[in-house]
Amino acid sequence: KQYTALLPAAGIGSRMQASLPKQYLRLGEQTILETTAKVFLSHPAIKNLIIVLHPNDTWFYQLPLAKDGRINTVVGGDERADSVLAGLKAAKQDEWILVHDAARPCITQSDISKLISAVEQQQCGGILATQVRDTMKRGADGKIAQTVSREQLWHALTPQMFKVKQLKDNIQNALLTGTAITDEASAMEWANCPVSLVTGRSDNIKVTCPEDLALAKWFISQQQN
Ligand code: C5P
Repeated sequence: KQYTALLPAAGIGSRMQASLPKQYLRLGEQTILETTAKVFLSHPAIKNLIIVLHPNDTWFYQLPLAKDGRINTVVGGDERADSVLAGLKAAKQDEWILVHDAARPCITQSDISKLISAVEQQQCGGILATQVRDTMKRGADGKIAQTVSREQLWHALTPQMFKVKQLKDNIQNALLTGTAITDEASAMEWANCPVSLVTGRSDNIKVTCPEDLALAKWFISQQQN
């Protein structure tokens, strides 16, 4: 069976303090976006990619990747959830989709396979996640208010895999009620649909700050998939 992947890449990456959006920064030979897209395009279970771009994006069509016939592009919105919605509207409604941050270039083929096989028989979909290792504190006014048990805490990663129509309806309705939707799973939670946690690799980082770029480069150099 083959699936579509959706890459939101319409952010401006203000925390990178770079002159161009972070997805267009280089990791060696190619940009972050190309690195991420190629992991999906070379996976046998991925048939096509929807890439969501900023309305003023002038970089994407300069990439050789733009000529790949398996890629569709759409224009995103102000928040990540708006960009994902725009992508979902361009997808086949009765299929599964894997939503993955363009800014997570260290994703591996094996983690994509692991997510698909764990989720394709589920009702509500699932996400890659890693268990929290540090002791977690809730803060108030710069002081510790409480230690929060880490036993049940996970870091939500991507890809996150859901049925297109179900995800689209839940994001739309959750946004209408003013719920914060920072990942796809939050929209499913809003609809009380239990999302599976699938343990992923901890090197699947999101490039957010300047120092993450060197880390991502090093992780990729160490991977054998
Ligand atoms: O800003 P953040 O690191 O959370 O963004 C995660 C991903 O979502 C990035 O790949 C970014 O390009 C994308 N994004 C988007 N539309 C927005 C904001 C972020 O597609 N409005």
